[in-house]
Amino acid sequence: MPKRAASALAPALQIERRAGEPLHRQIYFAIRQAILNGSLRPGVRLPATRGLARQLAVSRNTVMSAFEQLHAEGYVDGRVGAGSFVSHRLPAVVPGARARPGQSSVLRPARPGPSARGARLAGLDRGRTRARAFSPGVPELEQFPFDDWARLLARRWRRPRRAFLVGGDPAGYRPLCQAIADYLASARAVACRPEQVIVVSGTQQALDLAARVLIDPGDPVWIEEPGYPPTRAVLVAAGARPVPVPVDDEGLNVVHGRSLEPAARLIAVSPSHQFPLGVTMSLQRRLELLEWARAAGGFVLEDDYDSEYRYAGRPLAALQGLDRDGRVIYVGTMSKVMFPGLRVGYMVVPEQLIDAFLAVRALVDAHPSSIAQAALVDFIGEGHLAAHIRRMRALYAERQTLLVAAIRARLGERLAVAPSAAGMHLVGRLAPGSDDRAIAHAAGEAGVEAPALSSYYHGPAAARGLLLGYAGVPEPAITPAAARLALVIERAQPSANRQHVG
Ligand SMILES: Cc1ncc(COP(=O)(O)O)c(C=O)c1O
Repeated sequence: MPKRAASALAPALQIERRAGEPLHRQIYFAIRQAILNGSLRPGVRLPATRGLARQLAVSRNTVMSAFEQLHAEGYVDGRVGAGSFVSHRLPAVVPGARARPGQSSVLRPARPGPSARGARLAGLDRGRTRARAFSPGVPELEQFPFDDWARLLARRWRRPRRAFLVGGDPAGYRPLCQAIADYLASARAVACRPEQVIVVSGTQQALDLAARVLIDPGDPVWIEEPGYPPTRAVLVAAGARPVPVPVDDEGLNVVHGRSLEPAARLIAVSPSHQFPLGVTMSLQRRLELLEWARAAGGFVLEDDYDSEYRYAGRPLAALQGLDRDGRVIYVGTMSKVMFPGLRVGYMVVPEQLIDAFLAVRALVDAHPSSIAQAALVDFIGEGHLAAHIRRMRALYAERQTLLVAAIRARLGERLAVAPSAAGMHLVGRLAPGSDDRAIAHAAGEAGVEAPALSSYYHGPAAARGLLLGYAGVPEPAITPAAARLALVIERAQPSANRQHVG
């Protein structure tokens, strides 16, 4: 004889009339929970709906609705008039309910976690950007021409092409690829056909695609030391073995790299404005790098993230333009010239890799959002982007001058800063051996973002200092933030000597 369930259910069936959850959902969840945790065993008969409704002081319909849901989901069986029974077909899902031989458990008692690979990826540093003085890499956000951007977006949304609403090209919206190819040819001396351009959601995705297409687990890759942590993280995530190669005044030291690992599969570099040190790779190094790639059968990944901001002379040509052997994967981003939240970037891939990149791109996220790309074509075509970059270039040069003056006035040689001809941040050098991470932490507590130079090293840090982004800091905020930072440094190093450390 099936046992009655009323006594087993009584403690679980506490319904709350003022809770946001409808009463029939509360009853459903309570019974479902009692089944899943083993209080109601298979074969147990549920109370009759009429009796339960009376007991709970709810309408019979409310109880029937809960029972119907339990029936529909397979927790209970039964026929009209014959009552409802906890299903015998449930697998042994709960602690205490033993699986019968041959029966597998659907829900495991322990909460399952990620795979070993997933756990490794989850353990990688995700980084974090806060828009405050002196966050590196954050552009001026207030002065972006949002009215123009909004108007162009609205125009595209008002009359969307059907094609935009149902899909897109994995390479990106073709007119945007064309506009990017034109821009890169004139501004960066990049040599490419529009078919080589792939629109991506920022540098991060470009790195990820490059790693998927080019890296097998265990492949050695050269990374800059110090370098951009997300580059390292993406390559490590793909199973590559990172080989940190020191950066000196001419950029990544190719000869040194060769002595460490001659057979690297990929070299990730930022030749226009090395991140974080800010040096520009010399022509000799560029040629050495391309020669290495040709001879070793490897690829160069060129991260050209902020080359638009050059304050003296014309922007330098990209490394890609020197490549005659299809060895360079060029990556650019709208994060600096527009804003990082836009998540639009682009890559230029060698001819022989186009198909592989497009296939992988389609696999990973199909294609970029179409409407934003179409609005971007208009934004570029109507001259708004070029005008914004021009304005920002002048503004950032002025902010850099203010920052250098403020730091020198307050800290002198204790945080040695030199003006830079490019970029959106400076590196302030601290005396060798300084605990720059502790200072960066204390600065953060004082409301100033100034990441430690040592945190950009994969191995032991060859220099200590702080990164100081100025592009996104309004002029009136620069001197007060420098003063707050100065207090932190003076407190951390009360007796620091004042010798030059640059
Ligand atoms: C070296 C470097 N590359 C690329 C980027 C831009 O990344 P994304 O295009 O993913 O926003 C940054 C931003 O700070 C950077 O510092």
